[in-house]
Parts: sequence; C-alpha cells; structure tokens
Amino acid sequence: MKKILLISALLLAPLTSFAEDNIGVAAKGGQPEYLFMEKVSRDMAASTTKMISDALAIGRLVIFAQMPKIGDPKLADKGFGADVFADQWQTALEAQLIDITPRQQQILDKLVWAGKLSMDINQDRINTKGVKYKHFLPAKWARETGLFFNAKTGIYSKQPSVNYRHPSNAPDALEKKVLSGLVKDGEKAKATGEFTQMGKQAVYRYFDPVKLMQPCLACHGTPKGELDMLGYEKDGMKEGDVVGMISVAIAIEE
Ligand code: HEC
Repeated sequence: MKKILLISALLLAPLTSFAEDNIGVAAKGGQPEYLFMEKVSRDMAASTTKMISDALAIGRLVIFAQMPKIGDPKLADKGFGADVFADQWQTALEAQLIDITPRQQQILDKLVWAGKLSMDINQDRINTKGVKYKHFLPAKWARETGLFFNAKTGIYSKQPSVNYRHPSNAPDALEKKVLSGLVKDGEKAKATGEFTQMGKQAVYRYFDPVKLMQPCLACHGTPKGELDMLGYEKDGMKEGDVVGMISVAIAIEE
C-alpha cells in the first residue's frame, strides 16, 4: 500500500507543479470588449469627448475639495452623499458646459447617473469612523464612474498614467504614445484628440493631461521610490508635471 502511495505521489508531483504554473495566467487571444451603444456624428465627436473629460475632471475636483473631511477619522457621517455630490458637481458643470446640445445633454445625464452611483456605493466607506485613509480618492471615483458609464453607454474613459496604480489604467498603445508626448510638454501640455479605430468601430479619442497640484505630491511626489501613506512607491514628480491623462473614446455614426 505504502509503495503504491509513493509511486502515485511521485507520478503526480510534476503534474501538480505544471498545474500551478498554469493557474492565474491571462487568457491568450480574445477581442477587446468594445460595444458602443451611444454614437455621435463626426462633427460632434470632439466636443462631446471634451465635455465628458471636463465633467470627469470637474467631478474629481469636487471630491478633491472634500478630501480633508473624508479623511477625518473622528467624523462618521460626512454629509457627502450622492445627491449632495451631484448638486455640487452640476453647479460646477453649469459654469463650464454652457454650449452643449440636447444630444450631448442626454449623454451627460448618463455620466451624472454613473458618477452618483459611484458616490452612492462608497457611502459606507466614506462614513467609516476611526480610519483616516479609506481608499476613496478622486481617481477612484473617476475610474468607477468611467466603468459604470461604459457599461451603460459603451463610451470609454480611463486615466492612463506614467506609473499607474490601478491595473485598469494601464495605457494601450495609442495612450502610451500620446502620454509620452504630454509628459515631455510638461506644464505646457494641452488636450489633444484624433479619429481612429477601436476594433472595427470608427471612434474619436480625446486625451486631456492631468497635472499634479501641491496636495497630490504626498503620494505622487518625491523622493521617488519612497513609500506613500498607502504603501505605493512615490512617482518622483513635482507640481505641474503631467502624471497621467483622462482618455475618452466615443463611436462615430456612419
Ligand atoms: C493618498 C495618496 C494619493 C494622493 C494624495 C493622490 N493620489 Fe492619485 N492615486 C492614488 C491611488 C491609490 C490611485 C489608484 C486609485 C484607484 O483607481 O483605485 C491613484 C490614481 C491616480 C490616477 C489614475 C492612474 C492610476 O494610478 O491608476 C491619476 C491620474 C492620479 N491618481 C492623479 C492624482 C492627482 C492629480 C492628485 C492630486 C489632485 C492625486 N492623484 C492625489 C493615490 C493618491
């Protein structure tokens, strides 16, 4: 009996190591998940992607302004629910997005829906008492909002960065090329866009640089490689540097 067990253990040993090496590996092949439900005309594409990108950037700032309160460990209810956030966001948006068309307003309404959903699902996290860093940040809100907005509309948005922290912000080939240029331009970097394809779909892609402000440096600043309060290595950048970009892609009606 012992002999049989020993022999089968010996036979199985290489099989098990083979199995472990092959577990948790990305599947090869496949198609990117592009299904664009919302489409706009070619002449509306640039202004619509700019509207979406600006709205995400403004939403980020609205949350950024609340970060001291969100990070207060003594406070439970922060009074910063989805509706309060949406009111502040809409007010900030009104000033910036005066010229949008009714069609663009429909798209913006879906983005607002997505942004509120992210705020809503993070309420318990935000209102947790006794914890300073709650893993809720402007970038996380924009990432989740982009995800929900994409699920509803097919419009694509993300925040590719030089040293991205979240894997879903890994730049694709075009984002990498554009971001390299924006990083070189530094403080002078301006938004740019182009008509291209995503899979078989004709799209317009828009890229708006995200520059670092003073309070961002606690995590994205210097010295490079030192651990920030969340345990990530700091990026080694300074105020005004391009840390990443908001990338938006919308399908063109043909
Ligand atoms: C407390 C540390 C911290 C501070 C301060 C901070 N960030 Fe980040 N940043 C992060 C983390 C963590 C993520 C990943 C969030 C996620 O997607 O869940 C992130 C993500 C990002 C991303 C998206 C790319 C990526 O890394 O996934 C951008 C762009 C970004 N931050 C810019 C900024 C800017 C601009 C500021 C200042 C307004 C700032 N950050 C302040 C920690 C920080």
